[in-house]
Amino acid sequence: MKQQLEKIETLAKEELSACKEIKLLDDLRVKYLGKKGELTAILKQMGKLSADERPVIGQLANKVRSDIEGAISEKLSILKENAKAEKMKAESIDITLPGKVQSLGKLHPMTVVENEIKDIFMGMGFSIADGPEVDDDYHVFEALNLPPDHPARDTQDTFYISDNILLRTQTSSVQVHVMETQKPPIRIISPGRVYRSDAVDATHSPIFHQIEGLVVDKGITMSDLKGTLELLMKKIYGNDCKLRFRPHHFPFTEPSCEVDISCFNCGGKGCSMCKDEGYIELLGAGMVHPKVLEGCGIDSSVYSGFAFGMGLERMVMGKYDINDLRLLYENDVRFLEQF
Ligand code: DAH
Repeated sequence: MKQQLEKIETLAKEELSACKEIKLLDDLRVKYLGKKGELTAILKQMGKLSADERPVIGQLANKVRSDIEGAISEKLSILKENAKAEKMKAESIDITLPGKVQSLGKLHPMTVVENEIKDIFMGMGFSIADGPEVDDDYHVFEALNLPPDHPARDTQDTFYISDNILLRTQTSSVQVHVMETQKPPIRIISPGRVYRSDAVDATHSPIFHQIEGLVVDKGITMSDLKGTLELLMKKIYGNDCKLRFRPHHFPFTEPSCEVDISCFNCGGKGCSMCKDEGYIELLGAGMVHPKVLEGCGIDSSVYSGFAFGMGLERMVMGKYDINDLRLLYENDVRFLEQF
C-alpha cells in the first residue's frame, strides 16, 4: 500500500508538471483526490491493514494528499501568472510608434470674414437678424419702392417659384421684415445668401452672399452711415484704408451712394486689380427712403435711418487677394488650406 501511495504521488506530480491549462487542473484534482479518485480508493482499503500499519499508512496518505494539493495550488498560481503575462503581451502597445497625424479642419475664408464683420457690428450694439431666402415679391421688391415694371428690377432677375414667390435677390428684404416686427430704435445686420439669374464667371455667381445693415432711430444722418462704415473698413482692411462715397441711385434710399475703398493691392495708386481706378466698389448704401419707412408703419417725420448692403464675396476677395470668385465655392482643399 505504501508503494501504491508513493506511486500515486509520483504519477500525480508528473501529470501536474505536464499540465498546461487551468481547466485541466480540476480534472487532475478529481482524478487523484476526488471521492472516486485514486487516493480515496486506496484509503478505502485501510480496513484490511493491521493496527500497527494503519497509523503509518494513514499518516503517509495524508501527506500524499497534502503534497498533491500543494502541488495543484502551486501549479494553479503558475498557470495564472503565465496567462496574465501572455494577456499583457498580446495587449501591449508600442508607445514608440509615431502617432497618426489627424488633419485639422478650419473655417472657410467666407466664414472667417463673416464672423469678423458680425463681431465688429455687435461691438457697436447691432444685433443679427435673419430673413427668408424664399420670399414674396412684396418684401423683395415692392416694399422697397420697386413696383412691378420698375426698370431696376431688370438687374435683379431671379428664380421664381410662382409669380409672387421667388428667391430673394438682395438681403434688403430683411429690412422690411425687421421694420414690420420691431419698433425703432433698430440696429441690425443680416448676413445671408441671395440669388440672381446670372451666368457664372470670375466675378458673378447665381448664388452669392450679402450683409445688410439697417439703423433706424431719431436723428440718424448720413454722417452716422459714414462713421459706421469707416470703422468697419478700417478694422477689416487696416487704418490706411480710405473710403470714397459716390452718389448713386437705389429706389429704397434717398440719397443713395456707392462706397468704394482704396485698392487693397496698390493702396490707391492704380493697378490691374482696381483697373487703374485706385478704388474698389464694395457696397451700396443710403438714407432709408421715407416711403419705405412709412410702408412699414414707421413715422418718417420722427424717425430716419441709414441702410447698406455689401457683397461678402467681394470683402473676402479683397482681404485675401483672391481674383476669381469661383475659388470660394469649389472647396478645393489646396486653395482653402492657405487661409
Ligand atoms: N440691395 C442692394 C444690392 O443688392 C445693395 C444696397 C444698396 C442695400 C443700398 C442697401 C442700400 O441697404 O441702402 O445691390
